[in-house]
Amino acid sequence: MLKTIFLSKEESSTLKSLKTVFSSPSKEIPEEYDLLEKGQYVGSNIDEVAQLALLLRPWVKPNAHVLDLGSGDGRVVFTLAILWKNVYITGIEYNSALFKYSQKIKENISPELKKRVKFFKKDFLEEDFGLYDIIFYYYWGTWEEDKLVEKLNKEVNTKALLILYGHGMDKTKLEKNFLQAYKFIENPEIEPFACILVKI
Ligand SMILES: C[S@@+](CC[C@H](N)C(=O)[O-])C[C@H]1O[C@@H](n2cnc3c(N)ncnc32)[C@H](O)[C@@H]1O
Repeated sequence: MLKTIFLSKEESSTLKSLKTVFSSPSKEIPEEYDLLEKGQYVGSNIDEVAQLALLLRPWVKPNAHVLDLGSGDGRVVFTLAILWKNVYITGIEYNSALFKYSQKIKENISPELKKRVKFFKKDFLEEDFGLYDIIFYYYWGTWEEDKLVEKLNKEVNTKALLILYGHGMDKTKLEKNFLQAYKFIENPEIEPFACILVKI
């Protein structure tokens, strides 16, 4: 499904290694669909995240700051860092085991990637969303979605991008929640698994 034609040889091989790391479930972390302190854990599909990253390349400015809200095992953070050069990616995860696991994976990546990737173990509702140009969120990933939506509407800067990841999202419902502050960027290729919105 991923258009590998758009990847350099180096990107393609780094992405392949990343997929190998995340291909088998680790005993150190919660299982997929476990209900955690702050939300349900499910890992994104790396190929789909890579597809999103390729599609958004023209929108991503050098030195942009990106946030993954509830970064789980870190797979989204690493995938975006591989495909978006000169971009700084932060993952915030409340669950200790998932946070520690993402830190452990970080130990084994290249120094170049390492310096652009950061993880914090905390509640993302305490973060200032105004610091970021792009925000990734696995839709329905938190128990406190109302508070999250309020912060996304209030705090995010104009022109910042919001990526909502999730299969079979109800766009009409989303429009009700987000439309006051965001507009949808239509893209039929990614709509089965994600929506991209821009803050107006
Ligand atoms: C559906 S998973 C997504 C994981 C990762 N973003 C991915 O796409 O692979 C949602 C994650 O968000 C975390 N989470 C939910 N609410 C949170 C909060 N308020 N602060 C920090 N992490 C939170 C959960 O612990 C869970 O690991």
